[in-house]
Amino acid sequence: MHILHVVGARPNFMKAAPVLKAFAGQASVSQTLVHTGQHYDSLMSEVFFRQLEIPEPNINLHVGSGSHAQQTGQVMMGLEPVILERSPDWVMVYGDVNSTVAAALVCAKLQVKVAHVEAGLRSFDRTMPEEVNRLVTDQLSDLLFTPSADGNDNLLREGIAPNKIRLVGNVMIDTLVRLLPLARAHRLPELPDRYALATMHRPANVDDEVFLQKFMETLHDIGKAIPVIFPVHPRTRQRIGQSCFAGRGDHVRLADPLSYLEFLALQETATLVITDSGGIQEETTFLGVPCLTVRENTERPVTTIIGSNVLVGRDMGRLLAETENILEGRQVDVRIPPLWDGHAAERIVKEILGADALCVDSVPVKPAMSAPAL
Ligand code: UD1
Repeated sequence: MHILHVVGARPNFMKAAPVLKAFAGQASVSQTLVHTGQHYDSLMSEVFFRQLEIPEPNINLHVGSGSHAQQTGQVMMGLEPVILERSPDWVMVYGDVNSTVAAALVCAKLQVKVAHVEAGLRSFDRTMPEEVNRLVTDQLSDLLFTPSADGNDNLLREGIAPNKIRLVGNVMIDTLVRLLPLARAHRLPELPDRYALATMHRPANVDDEVFLQKFMETLHDIGKAIPVIFPVHPRTRQRIGQSCFAGRGDHVRLADPLSYLEFLALQETATLVITDSGGIQEETTFLGVPCLTVRENTERPVTTIIGSNVLVGRDMGRLLAETENILEGRQVDVRIPPLWDGHAAERIVKEILGADALCVDSVPVKPAMSAPAL
């Protein structure tokens, strides 16, 4: 069996790593890894490959940055000949980035089977590019691996056949479980005992100049009570420039994007995390670290229902108030969602290897016959 994996952007890498590793243990399986090049900076890509022990990609499409249409189109044009040439039995796509939906579209048109890892998540907010990517990818996939039961409910509501859906758990947590001991060795030196860790990169937040300014002001206010460490995504760096923070004291420590191990170590011992990321809501839930999410909605509701995540929206007064709650030691009862246990990738491999036997509907639908002339 030949499996071709498509990855492109930072959050893909921690999801694909355990699946690649689990397939590598199968003698009957050969693999091709395609990097679309959506993320290309060493700090956004290469360092993750190294730390997560992902093999060198067989092919890099080098699509780089661009508008959504440009990026998606470039991935499609680059990937099509690769799929035709390599003729994989299954293509694995991950998460909700532009590379994911582009790959699913190419495979659907070529009638090559696609499996979507992290299927079924929904924010119900179509202003988010990721939500559009999730909806389209799930419609086009032949097997859909969900991280939590809400994903199954969403897919069934959208008319996905139940025999295509498998609840396997969370592959990001596989990577976390495997690498947490190593991450502890990557703890940054001279860390304060208590600190807040912040990230912010979503277009809805950082492309809004007024909001971004307000957010930075709020971080500085929080910084008076607890040191804030803020690794800055390239998109955010472009928006805030350097001047915004000049002469504001050292309450907020800005850093370049951190490697996986450094960031995981920082999350584990943070007093609280402030973020608009999807994956970080899950990682903090697993680690039991309080997380305040600066978004109006989340496609990962399980992190707010049983996990440590609180949605504060874009209300900076609420962000301050919830931060105070945490600093005052408010205890939250946090549980880890079922199947977030470090073994999701093994379950995925088992399902793929057994998929043909399970009669997944992979046969192309015949075009409707034209009506006979009267
Ligand atoms: C993408 C994903 C988002 C994910 C995020 C994680 C989509 C629609 N969005 O958003 O879901 O949470 O990755 O980071 O796919 N840039 C660099 N170097 C890089 C990559 C990007 O400088 O290696 C800059 C470029 O100027 C680029 C901008 O960051 O225009 C945004 O990159 P892009 O890949 O378009 O989207 P992200 O915001 O990273």
